[in-house]
Amino acid sequence: MKYIIGNWKAHKTIQEATDWITTFKSLLETDTQTLDKLKNNNVTVILCPPFHLLSLFQQLTQSIPNFSLGVQTVSSHGEGAFTGEVTAHSLQGLAEYAIVGHSERRKYFTESSTDIQSKIEQCTINGIKPILCIRGNTDAIFPEAKFVAYEPQESIGTGNNAPVDQVLALKTQLSLLPDMKFIYGGSVNEQNMNDYVLHGEIDGVLPGSASLVANEFFSMIQKIII
Ligand code: PGA
Repeated sequence: MKYIIGNWKAHKTIQEATDWITTFKSLLETDTQTLDKLKNNNVTVILCPPFHLLSLFQQLTQSIPNFSLGVQTVSSHGEGAFTGEVTAHSLQGLAEYAIVGHSERRKYFTESSTDIQSKIEQCTINGIKPILCIRGNTDAIFPEAKFVAYEPQESIGTGNNAPVDQVLALKTQLSLLPDMKFIYGGSVNEQNMNDYVLHGEIDGVLPGSASLVANEFFSMIQKIII
């Protein structure tokens, strides 16, 4: 099983998202091989749109096999008087996964390791699987994380994806639990994706900008070698 986790970041209106899913579904309808890949659990797609699109996407993606929804962050708090926060509790039944600790959250929203730990705890309490992003071997790995995504900062949004050797070398420096999935993210696209997934050591990829275009994201699923 390989994973493709799309991170939309702060992009797309309802109309733009509807157009994306319409294109994605029409591509899938005409490609039985890719449909079988999803049906046979060879590939799991996890799309992480912004919060405002979750409910719509829940309805629009129901018919797609092995296609799950995730969020890009969650509150470190439980339910309560926390204006503006979106809690893991409120996401039950809406999101199956949550990206936690993305370097943009650490950088622009000053999320600390303690915040990240609390977010992972909130996810775990509420049955949401955490996808923990780390920038390197000095970021803490919490045992409840189901996925650990290595995303070197210099590779995010730059077109400079990290060489596979660097990703594999970093993995050897981490203390991963046996059931944790190891993912690479940072300028992944349809051309370089298989460099990573061809290795039994890497369970999948986390594309950002390449997931914004339905044709490109679909083509990644189509081309993924399993
Ligand atoms: P990118 O983003 O693919 O646009 O580099 C990846 C990420 O930030 O998760």
